[in-house]
Amino acid sequence: MSEVSSGHAYFTETDYEVFNIFPGMCPAAIRFAGLMTGIKTPDFEQSFDFLDLGCGQGFASNAYAAVYPSGRFVGVDMAEGAILGARKLAEEAGLNNIRFEVATFADFARNTTQKFDVIGLHGIWTWVGMDVREDALEILRTLLKPGGVVYISTNSAYGRDQAKPAHALLMAMRRAKPDEDVADLMKRFGDTLKQNPTILENAPRAKAFLEFLINGSANFFSHEYLSSAWSPVSLADLAADLARADLSFLASANPWTLNPSQFINEPHRSFVEAFSDPIDRATAYDALMGTEFRTDLFIKGPQVITPEEQRQMVLATPLAFKNKSRLQLVKDGRGEVARIAANASYSLICERLLQGPCTIGEALSGTELEAIDTQDLLDSLHLLKVVGAVSSGIGAIDDPEIRARAQRFNAAALAVHASLNGTTPLISPVCRGPVTVSIIDSIAIRAEKEPIDPVATLLKVAAKERVSLQVDGVAVEDAEAVAKSYRRTFAAWPLVRRPALASLGVLS
Ligand SMILES: C[S@@+](CC[C@H](N)C(=O)[O-])C[C@H]1O[C@@H](n2cnc3c(N)ncnc32)[C@H](O)[C@@H]1O
Repeated sequence: MSEVSSGHAYFTETDYEVFNIFPGMCPAAIRFAGLMTGIKTPDFEQSFDFLDLGCGQGFASNAYAAVYPSGRFVGVDMAEGAILGARKLAEEAGLNNIRFEVATFADFARNTTQKFDVIGLHGIWTWVGMDVREDALEILRTLLKPGGVVYISTNSAYGRDQAKPAHALLMAMRRAKPDEDVADLMKRFGDTLKQNPTILENAPRAKAFLEFLINGSANFFSHEYLSSAWSPVSLADLAADLARADLSFLASANPWTLNPSQFINEPHRSFVEAFSDPIDRATAYDALMGTEFRTDLFIKGPQVITPEEQRQMVLATPLAFKNKSRLQLVKDGRGEVARIAANASYSLICERLLQGPCTIGEALSGTELEAIDTQDLLDSLHLLKVVGAVSSGIGAIDDPEIRARAQRFNAAALAVHASLNGTTPLISPVCRGPVTVSIIDSIAIRAEKEPIDPVATLLKVAAKERVSLQVDGVAVEDAEAVAKSYRRTFAAWPLVRRPALASLGVLS
């Protein structure tokens, strides 16, 4: 097994083939978390250094390099094939502010003197062994600048620990047949779970995860679950480890759990709010909800921002709507949602956003802005993000250079993805953050530029991938019925989806 001989306990037989842009690692998301918690984060409008540790296909760091031209981006991974893919995408996107290195974390720590403002680790920590975690810690300790931020994703112990017995069983099955092809092992493992239902019955919290794994691609299965070192952690354990690199917890990178009690109802809310320490509060939330996956931000030497700086920052925050119906949805909200929606700023921001992107200050200009307190503005911004109504950004809303760079990245991204099963992560030049589009969106976008028949193109992709076609979620054999349904979808697209993609600057 090459995994064992590599000494990393990480699965190395194939390169990771997931092409994704993780939203929490985005500079705009880091700024947002700092703004909400009143902690200073790096200034992403000036030059800054950004490291994507274990970058895989480098999709996220390439996307961010496109819309943050003042950043110097570095992606590192020991998988040569993944780095080749990352370099190719950078070249096709015409990026000159990013470089990719084939290196282990240990080698990178030894040979690098560059210091970083942000270090991201997505899909690394709970998937690698203790020795590799130590190598990563060494990088965080020595290469992160004071005031620098770490983005880190983990499998959370609260929801995923129950997948450990099945993982041990999988490892045993692999040891028994070390030369077996991964796809065959995956099938054998899936059959074993079906033939022995008690395994899943004993792991109710992990059931959906395990079923998702055995029904997905062999590549994802391998990298998610086939490393012998795979081991979920609690936020408290993660924080204790990162403290050894002088890092303190900043916030959850996910707006929904930024303030973990805010959008849950009683009695859960009181239970979570009884804990004042942010890590304990997140722990109470995770224990209650059985959290499976977390994304978090840590900071080296946090500095508080003044109330006036915080006010100016929130007023300067650019917003664009990404879903008009979500703006409406909140009006019928209950509890905290209803309280915030009744804020002085909330409906004014919603109304202005329907005309196009603007900063919060612009949305409220001409109103009695001085009378609106900062917490009201922060709550409105937070709620708009939590319900998925808006994307928030950094700096200039419509910078022609950033727009051109994003367009080129998005064209390259769409060329890599043309899959019916997948979605394509694109980058917004307005919010300078990710926007995920479906195959319907990507074909409709192509159809605006090229004389293609969208329905025929979609059917061609489906046939190539041998995907069963569906109408209203039901598999259909009748090609004409399917075509009719997709014709309706594409006809509605300019009204249903196009306005959001235009507001986000993905389309002009
Ligand atoms: C699950 S993938 C995540 C890739 C990427 N961050 C993403 O989420 O798309 C983990 C990556 O870490 C890399 N990796 C694991 N151990 C490593 C080490 N010791 N040094 C360098 N890269 C490592 C693997 O090659 C793999 O590409």
